[in-house]
Amino acid sequence: MKRLIVHHGSPLRGAVPVGGSKNAALPILAATLLCEEPCIIGNLPVIRDVERMLTILIHMGCTVERIDRATYRIDSREAVVPATPDKLTQDLRASSYLLGAGLGRFGEGRIGKIGGCDFGGRPIDQHIKAFAALGGSVCLSEEEITVCAPALIGARVDFDTVSVGATVNAMLAAVRAKGETVLFHAASEPHIVDLARFLNRCGADIRGAGTGVIRIRGVEHLHGCTYGIIPDMIEAGTYLLAAAATRGAVSARGIPPDQLRPLTEKLRQMGADVDCEENTVTVFAASPLRAVSVDTRPYPGFPTDLQPQMVAALAVSQGVGTVRENVWHKRFRYVEELHKMGASIRVFDNRATVVGGSLTGTSLNVPDLRAGAALLIAACAAEGESVLFGIEPIMRGYEDILYKMQSLGADIREEE
Ligand code: UD1
Repeated sequence: MKRLIVHHGSPLRGAVPVGGSKNAALPILAATLLCEEPCIIGNLPVIRDVERMLTILIHMGCTVERIDRATYRIDSREAVVPATPDKLTQDLRASSYLLGAGLGRFGEGRIGKIGGCDFGGRPIDQHIKAFAALGGSVCLSEEEITVCAPALIGARVDFDTVSVGATVNAMLAAVRAKGETVLFHAASEPHIVDLARFLNRCGADIRGAGTGVIRIRGVEHLHGCTYGIIPDMIEAGTYLLAAAATRGAVSARGIPPDQLRPLTEKLRQMGADVDCEENTVTVFAASPLRAVSVDTRPYPGFPTDLQPQMVAALAVSQGVGTVRENVWHKRFRYVEELHKMGASIRVFDNRATVVGGSLTGTSLNVPDLRAGAALLIAACAAEGESVLFGIEPIMRGYEDILYKMQSLGADIREEE
């Protein structure tokens, strides 16, 4: 079992290169199944979730070749619908995208139980709604989820809630369906735009990605292409919040500032200086920051994936901040770990009230990916030594996080 030992150190300072976006890479890798020619995908983040998705593609008969550290060639011409790959899919939430991609390619998708971070239930009714609208029938059992359709016919899909996963799955299923599909109340995250851009590069006809209405005219075939994944706004935001919490100065390099506006606006309100250049965002937080109120929302709102890291920063700020979680109402399991460090945080329903103060290092258990990043930030800002156990979720989604934190001056090491 690996663990991280973190000591209170000097404020984090320096620049980190931002890797490829996890949330764009996983749907795009699933989408390569729809292509009848090889694709070369670059700027893939070097993380376990990407390794897992590539392993699943190999399991499905794709030929996957590594070209360099972050670039793979994926040839799905020989791909088949897999026998239940439970062990492979159970650790990866994004394996649900193989349902939409399988439906679009073979008229059938099949996966085992879906894994991923546990935020107290992660429904898929909107995915099912989209599949059904296009002519698919879904079968749910204890062991697997299957979806099949004799033919996919374009349809109007009105989502009841904004869902990234359901929007991705609907796009994957509709891209080769007959006729036009229109998705209303669609998610508009940069990774949805990236998926549309990739599919269009392969010959798809998708318009409106990045807005709440996406129109997809089905095409018969998709060819291959060479494509680079967008940078990871959540990774960038995590390092900027680490700078805020440790009163340091960190530049995230290779990220369009626009995508981080909800975070940088909050950081400015907190009293940090934020400098936005073309592809670099720098946060200077020399003095203690002030508390703010944050409401998470689908893009372009404040991202739920930066909520735990923001709570960690608020825990060492001045004043009383509130954080309302509107996407995953139960995404506060990590707060009990912050309590062990002396944080004063009260959670009621989907709202956390955070009284800023100081933290003391202690033993911590990592409950999920972004919570793990939040605990790492808290540990860097806390007095004394912290030991983080169960760090696998962090490694699943952050590329070279130890190296990057160390390069900013964090006193952190990994131990068996
Ligand atoms: C969501 C986040 C995404 C984040 C990811 C992991 C949004 C809109 N999505 O994506 O930014 O990276 O979690 O933290 O911010 N829902 C349903 N039925 C469904 C699907 C979803 O009710 O079929 C609800 C969920 O309970 C949740 C909300 O919709 O409250 C957003 O879910 P969704 O966007 O699908 O989740 P992810 O794709 O995992």
